[in-house]
Amino acid sequence: MTAPAPLADGERPPAAGALDVERLRASFPILAREVHGHRLVYLDNAASAQRPEAVIEAVSDCYRTYYANAHRGVHALSERSTDEYEAARGKVARFVGASKSSEIVFTRGTTESLNLVAQSYARPLLGPGDEVLLTEMEHHSNIVPWQLVCEQTGARVRAAPITDDGDVDLDAFARMVNERTRVVALAHVSNALGTVNDVAAVARLVRDRSGAAVVVDGAQAVPHMKVDVSALDCDFYAFSGHKMYGPGGIGALWGRGKLLASMPPYHGGGAMITRVTFERTEYTVPPHRFEAGTPSIAPAIGLGVAIEFLESVGLDRIERHEHALLSHTVEVLNDLPWVRVLGQGAEAGSPRAAVVSLVVDGAHPHDVATILDEQGVAIRAGHHCAQPLMERLGVPATVRASFGLYNTHEEVDLLVSGLHEVRRIFG
Ligand code: ALA
Repeated sequence: MTAPAPLADGERPPAAGALDVERLRASFPILAREVHGHRLVYLDNAASAQRPEAVIEAVSDCYRTYYANAHRGVHALSERSTDEYEAARGKVARFVGASKSSEIVFTRGTTESLNLVAQSYARPLLGPGDEVLLTEMEHHSNIVPWQLVCEQTGARVRAAPITDDGDVDLDAFARMVNERTRVVALAHVSNALGTVNDVAAVARLVRDRSGAAVVVDGAQAVPHMKVDVSALDCDFYAFSGHKMYGPGGIGALWGRGKLLASMPPYHGGGAMITRVTFERTEYTVPPHRFEAGTPSIAPAIGLGVAIEFLESVGLDRIERHEHALLSHTVEVLNDLPWVRVLGQGAEAGSPRAAVVSLVVDGAHPHDVATILDEQGVAIRAGHHCAQPLMERLGVPATVRASFGLYNTHEEVDLLVSGLHEVRRIFG
């Protein structure tokens, strides 16, 4: 598989246990390009990460040499496509610690995974007076699907508060879990603040107080830390390929086998049935019950290769490297009186992952983003699909820098010089 680029003549390997970032960077072709005459500094990984050559090659090899529809043919190409697609499912299962491949449903991404849980798990269960408990830091994709299902069933959405430092207020959260709580849905890592929620502690607390299912939006966790769904003891875990160096348009839902087996289909169509007549249809078992229609075969195969890439680099090493970048960034920014870093206060109780949200005095986040872009620095500005969180923080928008395994300390310095340029322009 996917070994990073070999050492160049005279190049020294990094210290034992450290990430060899320069070699890794060479595996990502896009990082060599320039933007507005500057070398690209890509700090928008929470929105979408870049892909290593191995992933690009795997997708292209599928289309060039063996692509055909999966699960539908006895010819050689179809059998090969089916084998590769199902092998990718096995890699995803291993990656998140699932006990069986059949607990992995391929979806278009986290959003579809969460909508699937809302409609197939929660909708038959919810009724008037029931509650779905979220937190104030959720992404819209972990709010809107629950609002839709609550409108359909008469249940209601509640949101547990967060502290000023960007942690879930666990005491308040505990008080909100009751016998009417049917679903608790929360981010493993906040896309806007980087807060790493203690999902295992939340799941314990929920189980002590209710029979609610614990649904986790893992989109911002899987590229940055080792995830093990059995250690988290949640019931569903949703994530996307494009944030973990894989192709776009593919993601996954892990669900407990027993729960998936009890759920009706989400979409209807080919491949999710055992028998169809005009009177009635019998559905097949999970995961195929939830994968109507021709699947995203090449993207799923690319996701399997992205997982092998992450595993070959090592999630523990990635986490240490990104944590060092984050500490460096926060330390430098905290020295700038005209920059306010959000959700990284000294009182913050939970760890933080590789995301920094900030505001610059007197400059709108979109202007900051434009000035940084002119220097080749790509960050995201806006509400980050988390408008209720922005309201809680009392800001309309933030500037967000989000790191990946290929970012360097030099790039942190380029971000900071870009911010100095913003300050110079805006006074
Ligand atoms: N969820 C993505 C983000 O946080 C799009 O930017």
